[in-house]
Amino acid sequence: MKKQLVIQYEEFENHLGLSDVELKMLDKAKLSAENAYSPYSNFKVGASVLLENGKVLVGNNQENIAFPSGICAERVVLFNAGANFSTEPIQSILIVSKGELLPNEQVISPCGACRQVMLESEKRQGTPIKVILTSQSGRLIVFSSVSELLPLSFG
Ligand code: THU
Repeated sequence: MKKQLVIQYEEFENHLGLSDVELKMLDKAKLSAENAYSPYSNFKVGASVLLENGKVLVGNNQENIAFPSGICAERVVLFNAGANFSTEPIQSILIVSKGELLPNEQVISPCGACRQVMLESEKRQGTPIKVILTSQSGRLIVFSSVSELLPLSFG
């Protein structure tokens, strides 16, 4: 029997779709992306999370000459949240990237490993995490929960 999956998300052409705290998340994620350690890919990613207590944490990608040892921005910020604020639910995660070959209006979507980690954070806390993907130019793609991004997940 053939089945179909429907993924729901919202798309906005500019930052007007963001709340004040989300604009703060964006500023912080962009700044963090600038400080990424990515000499091998020359691709910079910044991620920020908003905790229920209003705190905004950031992370960026960290690479290593022994390639598999590097880690994506999303996992840096989520593991930071897990290590330091394990009882504080995450309300949202915002991701922004910058690369020489990346068009300004291009939104990047998290890799499979990061989706799995994001999903586990969501399942662990029992409340949805909003996912905001944005480009340098301000285009937005917004998912109301991580589960929309990783259907048929392992678990
Ligand atoms: N990267 C991220 O940080 N997040 C993503 O969602 C995709 C890729 C990083 C990993 C690596 O340092 C560089 O971007 C190129 O793949």
